[in-house]
Amino acid sequence: MTWAVGEFSQEEDRYAEVLRRQWSSDTLRGIYRDAYGADYPEEADPFGFVTRTDLVRIAELCGHVRGRRLADLGCGRGGPGLEVARALGTSLSGVDVVEAAVLEARTRASAHEPATDARFEVGSFEATGLGTGSCAAVMSVDALWMVWDKPAAFAEVTRILEPGGHFVFTTWEPAYLDHRALLSEAGFEVLVHEETPAWLSRQLAVYRGILSHRRELAGEMGQTAAATLIAEARETRSVLATTPRVLVAAKKGAESSGLSRRPRRSRA
Ligand SMILES: C[S@@+](CC[C@H](N)C(=O)[O-])C[C@H]1O[C@@H](n2cnc3c(N)ncnc32)[C@H](O)[C@@H]1O
Repeated sequence: MTWAVGEFSQEEDRYAEVLRRQWSSDTLRGIYRDAYGADYPEEADPFGFVTRTDLVRIAELCGHVRGRRLADLGCGRGGPGLEVARALGTSLSGVDVVEAAVLEARTRASAHEPATDARFEVGSFEATGLGTGSCAAVMSVDALWMVWDKPAAFAEVTRILEPGGHFVFTTWEPAYLDHRALLSEAGFEVLVHEETPAWLSRQLAVYRGILSHRRELAGEMGQTAAATLIAEARETRSVLATTPRVLVAAKKGAESSGLSRRPRRSRA
């Protein structure tokens, strides 16, 4: 069997086929399980590099939000947001640019125990479709690095958060990108900025697993999805050492509405 592996695409919806076919690959789940051990949050069935430890830390940093609404931006197939909403006792609004992911998140939510008031919609970080001041906290797992217009994304998070609400996210941080400065420009006070524990060895182990199971992945997920994973595993390994995976928590200032900011188009 052969498969075409192109360049790793820069499009925000480049994982659409992976998100659509991930459920069908026991091999991919096995690769994550082997790389993470007991820290693999299998019940969340994530697509990214979130661990049980990260999910607990995200919930802890969301603040006192019981009975109110949590948003998960770049929610993918919904599992991480549902687990955090369950831990916090909140309702959940998940948003993602990929429709297939949103549809699967809705199915997952309908089977989630205990029942969570969860809505999943197609939308983007920059235009979530959520009401102004409607969220007590906003979380995002491993999605912000894909967003082209980060100032517009931060302005939108400011808009949807209640005053004093927390924004907690994981992402990768290249040297040229200063999340702290962008957050403070958008009216946030940065509370926590930390590298996530042991992320590099886990991520490299996942990439090794993908590269040594190419045939199985293509057979289970189809060539397009497998080619996307293989391109990422090949092309991003070399930049990881200088691109730490960070967990950031920031608090919206009482004065910031997010409304005065004009979105800028830049790969900030
Ligand atoms: C690595 S996946 C993480 C998914 C999920 N958070 C998880 O951990 O399972 C990144 C997600 O971000 C979404 N995404 C990329 N750009 C986005 C944007 N501008 N707005 C919203 N979602 C976006 C992708 O479609 C994808 O589902």
